[in-house]
Amino acid sequence: MQISRLPSGIKGLDSLIEGGFPIPSIILVSGSAGSGKTTFAFQFLMEGAKRGEKGIYISTLSESWDWMLRFMSTFQFFDARYVEDGTIIYIDLGSELAELDEMKILNKIRDVIAYHTPQRMVIDPINVVNNYVKNYRQFMFELVTMLKEWSTVTLLTGEVGEGEKYPVDVGYTADGIISLIMRSEGDIIKRYVQILKMRGTAHSLSNHPLEITGEGIEVLRARF
Ligand SMILES: Nc1ncnc2c1ncn2[C@@H]1O[C@H](COP(=O)(O)OP(=O)(O)OP(=O)(O)O)[C@@H](O)[C@H]1O
Ligand SMILES: [Mg+2]
Repeated sequence: MQISRLPSGIKGLDSLIEGGFPIPSIILVSGSAGSGKTTFAFQFLMEGAKRGEKGIYISTLSESWDWMLRFMSTFQFFDARYVEDGTIIYIDLGSELAELDEMKILNKIRDVIAYHTPQRMVIDPINVVNNYVKNYRQFMFELVTMLKEWSTVTLLTGEVGEGEKYPVDVGYTADGIISLIMRSEGDIIKRYVQILKMRGTAHSLSNHPLEITGEGIEVLRARF
């Protein structure tokens, strides 16, 4: 059976994953601080907006939307029009996490999807939820099951510590895992990307060099 796919918006990535992310799917984008998770997520939402697809950005940190937009507007892929016209919308989950229990968090996300019916969604970063729910593994299972009821591609970003590739509690439920790597080589740090998992997809397993420039994130050498 042919799987429908959504282009990622990341230059050089789609040729490594048979053309894009499966629809629906939950993709974990993991990496250390500054590895490019949020930039990846915005580039993905902007790509959709340019195609007329609705996108939702859910922040679990209550980061100021104005500040985020200011940072993201330094990239060429960013187009403020899509934020102004509501093609991409911001949901602050962070300020409510402490008050809501598991069921209420899930219901809130479900209500947001039902109301806006987005093609693309981002929860950035997902691992913060671990501080608020009693059973994180169970929560992740229920979140992913709920998200699968919609024809949405959801990116969950995951922060990892030194030497860790991805948060395992998220990885086992995700359909795909993309690892953004920062590696010290001599005096400099080099960026790489590796696709650790992509269900239903014959994908690259190599470490591909990655660049973040004013144009956004680009996978440099698409070798298989
Ligand atoms: N305009 C730009 N041109 C080139 N590189 C940039 C530009 N803006 C940001 N960067 C690089 O991208 C990095 C930020 O990436 P981003 O915020 O997406 O990472 P993150 O993984 O979400 O980090 P965090 O863990 O802090 O949330 C910066 O640290 C910088 O190295
Ligand atoms: Mg970030």
